[in-house]
Amino acid sequence: LANEKESMYLVSEYAKKYHEEILWESPQGKAIGLTYFKERGFTTETIKKFGLGYALDEWSAFTDTALKEGYNLTYLEKTGLTIVKGEKRFDRFKGRVMFPIHSMSGRVLGFGGRILTNDKKAAKYLNSPESDIYHKSKVLYGLYYAKQAIAKEDNCYLVEGYTDVIQMHQAGIHNVVSSSGTALTAEQIRLINRLTKNITILYDGDAAGIRASLRGVDLILEQDMNVRVCTFPEGEDPDSFAKNNALEDVLAYFENNVKDFISYKASLLMEVAKNDPIKKAEVINDMMSSISRVSDRIKQELYLRETSRIMDISEDVLFATLAQLQNKNI
Ligand code: CTP
Ligand code: MN
Ligand code: MN
Ligand code: MN
Ligand code: MN
Repeated sequence: LANEKESMYLVSEYAKKYHEEILWESPQGKAIGLTYFKERGFTTETIKKFGLGYALDEWSAFTDTALKEGYNLTYLEKTGLTIVKGEKRFDRFKGRVMFPIHSMSGRVLGFGGRILTNDKKAAKYLNSPESDIYHKSKVLYGLYYAKQAIAKEDNCYLVEGYTDVIQMHQAGIHNVVSSSGTALTAEQIRLINRLTKNITILYDGDAAGIRASLRGVDLILEQDMNVRVCTFPEGEDPDSFAKNNALEDVLAYFENNVKDFISYKASLLMEVAKNDPIKKAEVINDMMSSISRVSDRIKQELYLRETSRIMDISEDVLFATLAQLQNKNI
């Protein structure tokens, strides 16, 4: 099995090189893929650093070349790069720009491929399937490029997508990773936890981003890490924001808008509850449910006091609520 995995790594590395070569050398790669990346504002240096590529819009251009080069069909299929149907072989990725996904140590595990249009009917991103080397729930996109900066800055920015990571890097912010569309998992948080105890969530400024951030907060608290959240104006994401603003303005925006999770949750939930006492009670229970996940008792008490202050509810009542929740958790 060790040998099988090694063969899968090798064919994935080859696929990365192949798609880079298509991007930089072929007429279609240059005209379509490179133009697309340049229009998104990516520099040559950035495109090379992240190993971005292009997959030709043909049935089996990659698979045919890989087989000719001596790569084994078994591993092309196991990595999901090739789809086998009877006697026929098809490339999984066709007519897409390619984002290789690396392990923490820089090995290629799989790919995300983006269509070039904004056609709402087609899936925007197609990703490699789960395989013996690629477990989506255990990988963070960009971690290989970010790990040193995360440790040095003692903070990790968590974004939604590939292009958010890349654009922030290009802007000069290197401590950033993405869970790439899959809902954030405990395993992914554990990877960050080894480098820093501090996470700043920078999800998209839309309903989906807000929902995902609230789930993320609870998962991060469960690992006794510190979590803060910075939101963007509706319709913006870190990619568009970092592209359209100077670095100093991006950093100033983060500094002025980042909230600890208590104030973030409280202001968000209070907007919904307004002055309705029943809804407000629900909101307070929701807050306490987050706080009950924190096992550090000192932090827990500090969070509880802050909630008491923001929500204008006595600490005694909150302590009682917390005790109830913790009994339930046991
Ligand atoms: N994603 C995915 N499949 C989709 C849509 C999204 O795997 N059909 C993942 C991708 O990793 C994507 C991330 O979820 O980067 C965030 O989604 P979204 O915000 O919709 O995409 P962006 O990263 O903003 O992509 P772009 O700027 O290229 O439109
Ligand atoms: Mn840089
Ligand atoms: Mn999004
Ligand atoms: Mn986005
Ligand atoms: Mn985007």
